[in-house]
Amino acid sequence: MSPLNIGVVGTGIFARDGHLPVFQDHPDKFKVVAAFNSTKSKALDFAKLAEFPEEKVFDDMDSLINDKDVDYVDVLLPAQFNLDAVKKCVAAGKPVQIEKPIAANMKQARELVEVAESTDLPIAISENWSFLQAINVAREHLPRIGEVVGFQHNSTGPFVLNNKYMATSWRQHPEHIGGFLSDGGVHQLALVTALVGEIESISALTSQVREASGDDDIVFSTLKIRNSKCIGSFSYGSAFGATDKWIYLKIYGVNGSIMIELNNKAAPIVRVKVGSDAEHSGEEEVYNVKEDKSFGIYEEFTNFHDAVAKKDKSLLISSPRAAFHHLACVAAFIESSAKKGDHVEVERY
Ligand SMILES: NC(=O)c1ccc[n+]([C@@H]2O[C@H](COP(=O)([O-])OP(=O)(O)OC[C@H]3O[C@@H](n4cnc5c(N)ncnc54)[C@H](OP(=O)(O)O)[C@@H]3O)[C@@H](O)[C@H]2O)c1
Repeated sequence: MSPLNIGVVGTGIFARDGHLPVFQDHPDKFKVVAAFNSTKSKALDFAKLAEFPEEKVFDDMDSLINDKDVDYVDVLLPAQFNLDAVKKCVAAGKPVQIEKPIAANMKQARELVEVAESTDLPIAISENWSFLQAINVAREHLPRIGEVVGFQHNSTGPFVLNNKYMATSWRQHPEHIGGFLSDGGVHQLALVTALVGEIESISALTSQVREASGDDDIVFSTLKIRNSKCIGSFSYGSAFGATDKWIYLKIYGVNGSIMIELNNKAAPIVRVKVGSDAEHSGEEEVYNVKEDKSFGIYEEFTNFHDAVAKKDKSLLISSPRAAFHHLACVAAFIESSAKKGDHVEVERY
């Protein structure tokens, strides 16, 4: 694999702490060659860290996208800017990967999928949770537990006062629907839907616990899976008082169950029990999973690199269509809660 040249748009916290370390750890695949940031000084700092010349810090997004040295564009902006960035990249014939959530609202998300599906260019969403090894391990064992009829997902934790992300003004005054429910909740929905399937309808209550969250920050819900009798629950929020960070997905089949524990992200645990009833239950099998230290980011960019290098967008795992579904679930949480928990259909593309 030879390295592809990357132009980074939006050199904020996650570009520096999330994407850049992966690019620098894998020079065989990735080379950052240019950047644009609305506050230029931050892009100049980023250029130093990424070790490319200051001349490749551009004053506007168009110049970066059209730069002949840039093979593809990595966009890390608040979600309301994703659609515009993707349109510009498509117009310039440049592959682009944008951070999650796909867009700030469903109208933009729909248009973004339309644009992405109108071109042969690879266009992907940086949804690192779609690339977790824990999902792959659980998926291997899924056929052993028979028909999946239920699930329980929980991702709850304490409010973190010194959360570096909380200090960003676009999160404090979110234009993206549901604030933290879409910012972080789409990761959880990527995990759940990867293993139990697409969600058809939702009944939810959401609420805002912390003023600093800028919008609702917890959700408790029940869900129905499309084309299946599988039902389950989904709880999300890190806005509580002192409590353990508790992230798990339990999947119930008619012939057993699978539990994914993600409390320790570096070392998830997958537990499998096979058997048709309490009297015919095998021993619990415990699989200790090793995640890459980037928690899926390395794998997401490797997948994107493949699609760009081979000019084959069908290789992409984290498609705009998949991310549309994740955001549509958040929209359904909000709609259902506004209707006092009525069951609502999840918008389909
Ligand atoms: N996958 C994950 O686990 C994960 C984790 C964290 C973040 N993310 C995603 O990464 C992206 C960046 O998040 P971050 O935490 O790095 O936030 P951040 O540090 O605030 O960076 C946001 C970037 O967007 C720019 N920006 C903000 N408002 C803008 C505006 N009105 N016009 C133009 N540019 C604007 C900022 O430019 P200035 O520097 O000029 O303000 C900065 O470059 C988001 O899409 C977020 O969802 C993903």
